Order: sequence, then structure tokens, then C-alpha cells
Amino acid sequence: MQNKISIEQLIQNDQELSIISSNDQSHNTLNVLVAYLQENNALLKELLLKNGAILFRGFEVNDNDDFRRVKEVFFGTSDFTYMDGNSPRTKLSSNIYTSTEYPQELAITLHNELSYSSNWPKHLLFYCHIAAEEGGETPLCNSRQILKKLDVKIVDAFAQYGVKYTRFLSGSQGMGKTWANTFETSDQNVIEQYCHENNIEFFWENGGLYLSNNGPGIIDHPITGEAVWFNQANQFHPCSLSNDVYKGMKLLFSDQKYKYPQYAYYGNGEEIPEAYLKEITEVHFSNSLKFKWQKGDIVILDNLLVAHGRMPFKGPRKIYVSMC
Ligand SMILES: [Fe+2]
Repeated sequence: MQNKISIEQLIQNDQELSIISSNDQSHNTLNVLVAYLQENNALLKELLLKNGAILFRGFEVNDNDDFRRVKEVFFGTSDFTYMDGNSPRTKLSSNIYTSTEYPQELAITLHNELSYSSNWPKHLLFYCHIAAEEGGETPLCNSRQILKKLDVKIVDAFAQYGVKYTRFLSGSQGMGKTWANTFETSDQNVIEQYCHENNIEFFWENGGLYLSNNGPGIIDHPITGEAVWFNQANQFHPCSLSNDVYKGMKLLFSDQKYKYPQYAYYGNGEEIPEAYLKEITEVHFSNSLKFKWQKGDIVILDNLLVAHGRMPFKGPRKIYVSMC
């Protein structure tokens, strides 16, 4: 069975993606993939540490149950809940969510999932249920290489200070992600307990919830020991929004900066130059690898080694995500 499954490397901009696919349509069932994952678990995990990204293609992965089976065979049954997550998603079942629900004509900047939080997933799995007619790629970018591509001034400042993230979450629908959606509970006591346990400063105001926590700018990978870029400062800062939206927010919140839905400072509370934040976004996009999704594709990422985003798209697109 093994020789009917091939491994190819797609390389763009210093990011490698291992593509594992079946060459034989009579040997592409879900059971074939499951057996391959079981027999090659150690080798695949080594590959993941090397490239940070593996794509499984051409196997019969048809729905969320199949997706869950792949995840559990490879990583076991431990679940990671998207608690404290800032992206609007729909929870489809335990630990399977839609990918970020964001206007399809806009790109989502590259990021390492939940790098602003003290609880981040080690791995992400994406499953393509419906591929977009046009666009909709998930750009991938090597978080080790980013350190070499960014201006040394930016890297040094982030290494020295880290990042302070602030959020002001609404209590009502229609004004961004609510605090109840963010924490997957409407019990304020549970949220306060979570904040205490995770060093998140907070206060309630008129039904809204302010949160502030510090995170790293750069961290060492726990297994390889390599330094990796690991923060979401550019994505949290409102200069990442359109000029009109950012201008409007400045008018609204100039005297009450804590009320920005999201904001990022250096860890010492000083402003990060907007030119730095824009360069971070630009360097990620221009150094990314883009592949075209096909129905049934599963991509596994090491969340510390590879940042991901989303390109604009046309037509329906359903990409689901699970974290562990
Ligand atoms: Fe994400």
C-alpha cells in the first residue's frame, strides 16, 4: 500500500509544504489514510517539525466525522477548546469550528493561532469541505524565516518588550464578537475565574468586558528550541483595518483607548510604530506559500512554526478547523 502513496514537496518563499497523496483511486479510502497515519506516525511528526505543514490530498474525507477520525488517529482524543478566541467562528461540534467568518472580499492577515493568549494550540488541522471557486487560499509562512526577513529593529523591539493586547468585548450581538461567544459561556464567574488563572486583567463596563494581557513577541519552539516569531500585534492593532474604519475608530475612541475592540502595544505599554506593524503584515504575505484547496484536503500545521491567513475568495467556501 505504501508505494501507492507519494510525498512531494511544494516550496515557495522558504516555506515548504509536504503533500501526501494517493496515486491509486482504488486505494484512497479513509481507512487507507488512517492506516498510513498509524504506520507512519513518527515519520510524519518528524516531517511536521521540519516543515511545519503537511497536506493530505486525494483521500475520501467527506465530512466532519471523517475529519475528526483523522485528527484522533494522528494526535489522539485530547481536545482544545477555542475559549478566549477572538475570531468569529461557528462551533460545529466538539473541537470542530468553521474557519474565521470574515467578509470574503477581504484577506485575513497571517498569524499563529491564539498567540496573544496564554493557551495556544500546538497544532491546527484544516479540512476542506467546499473549495472556493476562486481564491480562498490559506497562505502559510515560516515563523523561523520571518525573524530573518523582518528589519532587525522590529525583531529586537519585540524580543525585548513582548506585546500587550487589549480587548473591549461587547455584551450584545451585532457589535463584534461578544464576551459570551468569546468564552463560550454566559456565566461571568467562569470568565472571571479564567482571567484570574491566566493573568488577564479585566473589568466590566455597561455590559461590556475589558481585557488586557501580555504575551511574547518571539518564543523558542518547545521541541526544536528554535526561536520563532509568535505574536498577533499587527492583527490586533486597528491600523490593520481599512483607513475609513480606523479613522472612525480614532474619532470614537481617542479619549478612551481602552474601548478599541482590539489594540496592541509593546509589553511596557508604549505604542508600536504603525510602520512596523504594516511591515510585519507585508513581510508575512510576501513570504508566504499558497496552494489551491481541493475538496477533501486536510492540512496539519505546527502552530508555532507556521503562520496562516486567508486570501479573498469568490463562491461558497467551507474550511473547517480543529485545534490540539
Ligand atoms: Fe487563524
